[in-house]
Amino acid sequence: MSGIAIMTSGGDAAGMNPAVRAAVEHASNLGMKPYVVYDGLEGLIDGKIQEATRELTQDMMFRGGTLLRSSRSKRFFDHAFRKQAYDHLKAKGINKLIIMGGDGSFRALNDFFNDFQVPFAGIPATIDNDIAGTDYCLGVDTAQNMILNCIDSIRDTAQSHQRAFVVETMGRDCGYLAMTTAICSGADICIVPEIPYDLESVSKRLSARKQQGGCVIAVVAEGTKVAQYLTRWLEERMGMDTRLTVLGHLQRGGSPTARDRMMATRFATRAVDALCEGRNNQIMVYRDGSHGHTSLDAVVGQKYSVNQDILALSRELSC
Ligand code: F6P
Repeated sequence: MSGIAIMTSGGDAAGMNPAVRAAVEHASNLGMKPYVVYDGLEGLIDGKIQEATRELTQDMMFRGGTLLRSSRSKRFFDHAFRKQAYDHLKAKGINKLIIMGGDGSFRALNDFFNDFQVPFAGIPATIDNDIAGTDYCLGVDTAQNMILNCIDSIRDTAQSHQRAFVVETMGRDCGYLAMTTAICSGADICIVPEIPYDLESVSKRLSARKQQGGCVIAVVAEGTKVAQYLTRWLEERMGMDTRLTVLGHLQRGGSPTARDRMMATRFATRAVDALCEGRNNQIMVYRDGSHGHTSLDAVVGQKYSVNQDILALSRELSC
């Protein structure tokens, strides 16, 4: 019986658990023996591999984070540790891998394939939504909803005191989370790495608002590193009582939304199918409303570009 192991890698993202569950179920239904790897690539090196049972995955649909835990592994760059990982897989008869994470994780398993010919399938999973070749990464919808709940709450208190609030979102170098949540929360300002901003025009736009006595909400992507500067600018230039809220890791937690559960299930079952059909080292993608898969080269080292409509809407909030 063919063994297939499922693992999560890099930053956790809501949707990872439902994807593990779906991959285990689908692989079993196709007659494979599913395993899970704990602690990502580090756990692969240390042999933290366990046969997956229905009992193990039964509560996974609604749990956030990754119950398999995750890691960012430096040791996996070293061939000797990759050999150790391979020996663990060989001993259990595992000859296929599914990994959830970002392009660093996919690249690591590609090196592993080049060494030991263990094929893999990749599932894009990061709240940053910054992986090239796919319009969607697992965890994004849950993070967006978490951020929106926070901004809606902040608006209540901002309105009550006629204050300005700067809200910093995660996203590393990508402004996707900030742009989409700024649009959906009805924010007044959005500052992201992808768009040059112009505070002079922002000031003209907001002056009328200030005279009418409203609050101001600014959403700033962490990659810009301007949250504190903008807070001071709103205080000093706009004369508004201003507070800064850095949302931090709460954006990564929470029970996966319906969209993330659905995307997880579809990505994972396709990953199992791709491996069964002998399509090795493919990355599952969602583009223009359809699921598919693409080669590693179309993903790794390529730059993700945010959708033009979202950029255009955000531009209006950056000047
Ligand atoms: O890549 C996901 C992410 O949450 C980024 O948005 C953020 O910059 C980073 O991970 C935080 O990493 P850590 O959890 O290691 O602090």
